[in-house]
This record gives sequence, structure tokens and C-alpha cells, in this order.
Amino acid sequence: MIDGMPAAEVTAVSDVGPQLRRALLACWTEVSNAGGAVGFVPPVTEDDVEPVLDALLGRVAQGREQLVVVKVGGELAGWAVLSLSVSPLRRHWATVLRVQVHPARQGQGLGRVLMTGVHDAARALGLEMLHLTVRGGYGLEGFYAGLGYREFGRMPGAIRLGPGDDREEVHLYAVL
Ligand SMILES: CC(C)(COP(=O)(O)OP(=O)(O)OC[C@H]1O[C@@H](n2cnc3c(N)ncnc32)[C@H](O)[C@@H]1OP(=O)(O)O)[C@@H](O)C(=O)NCCC(=O)NCCS
Repeated sequence: MIDGMPAAEVTAVSDVGPQLRRALLACWTEVSNAGGAVGFVPPVTEDDVEPVLDALLGRVAQGREQLVVVKVGGELAGWAVLSLSVSPLRRHWATVLRVQVHPARQGQGLGRVLMTGVHDAARALGLEMLHLTVRGGYGLEGFYAGLGYREFGRMPGAIRLGPGDDREEVHLYAVL
């Protein structure tokens, strides 16, 4: 239990039903509109996010990505995916994508709980190492440093948030 909250439950999910799909869509839209760095520039609507979510869920159904969700009191509080490599030379590691906690629940320790679940799911898949990228200028490196991630490079101008607003992308890795 985190400070009087019901216990957070983290699970790796392969079979996404309509209720979870709706909750993932609402969460991704609300996190994006709150300024989260998860693939969109606000403002976005569920109509913008839906095709991107459905493509992601298609990869989850094919086993190319592993979805990990954190729930509190049975309600979705956050989620992330592990994107597995198709290259036989890279099957010992994966890229973590879309790490997000619902805006109403941020800053309560759930991001850490979610990432611990992502690491457990990665180990269960036999992975030895994880890679992820963060947008420069968001201060997110501090969150990941506390989870064992180390920076190994920055790509200048990799992310174009809008005309004249290019951001660097920071590459991090963690050994499991
Ligand atoms: C980033 C995010 C997942 C963190 O989840 P959270 O539940 O708010 O984080 P937690 O409460 O579990 O914080 C865990 C630790 O990281 C630290 N932390 C959290 N966000 C941080 C940030 N932006 N910068 C630096 N440190 C941060 C916390 O202070 C805490 O430190 P502590 O353990 O020493 O107390 C969440 O804020 C979020 O969804 N943000 C919007 C989406 C996004 O930008 N995702 C990142 C994609 S790369």
C-alpha cells in the first residue's frame, strides 16, 4: 500500500478486452493533454490517439510488444510497453515505450511500481537489458536514474515538437 492508497497491482497483459482498451485510450489522451512526453503534442483527442493505440495493441496481440499495466483499486492507473526486437542479434534486450501514469495519480510512487513490474516482465521474457529514450528538457532522466538507468548518448534535434521547436533525445539503458 502507498500512503493509504489501495494496493497497486502490476500485471503483464497479452489479451486486451474492450474495457481495458477504453481505459488505455483515455489514459494516453489525458497524459498527453497534461503535457506528458508519450508520442503526441497536445492538444489531442481520443480520435487522434485511437489508431496509434490500435496499432500498438495489434503488435501486443502478435507478441511483438509486451503490455504492462498498473491498477489501483481495479482501475487503470498507468501502463508501458516493452518492444521486442525481431533481430536474432538483439533478442536479449528490448525498448521500453509509452511509460505513463494517469495525471491524477502521478507523484505517488506508481511510476516506480510500474517500472518495477516492467523489469519483472522483462526478466520473465528472458531479457537482460532495457533501452529507452526520453525527450530532453523534461527532467525525466532523474526518474529513470532512480530506477538504475544510465545515459549513453543524446541525439540533437531528434524530436520536432513544432516548427522551430526541436528537442534532443536522451538514450538510456539499464542492465536487469
Ligand atoms: C514520468 C512518470 C511515469 C513518473 O511516474 P510518477 O508516478 O509520477 O513517479 P513516482 O511518483 O513513482 O516517482 C518515482 C521517483 O522518481 C522521481 N520523479 C518522478 N518524476 C520525475 C521527474 N519528472 N523528474 C525527476 N524525478 C522524477 C520522484 O521524485 C520519485 O523519486 P523518489 O523515489 O526519490 O521519491 C509520470 O510522471 C508520467 O506519466 N509523466 C507523463 C508521461 C511521461 O512523460 N512519461 C515519460 C516517457 S519517457
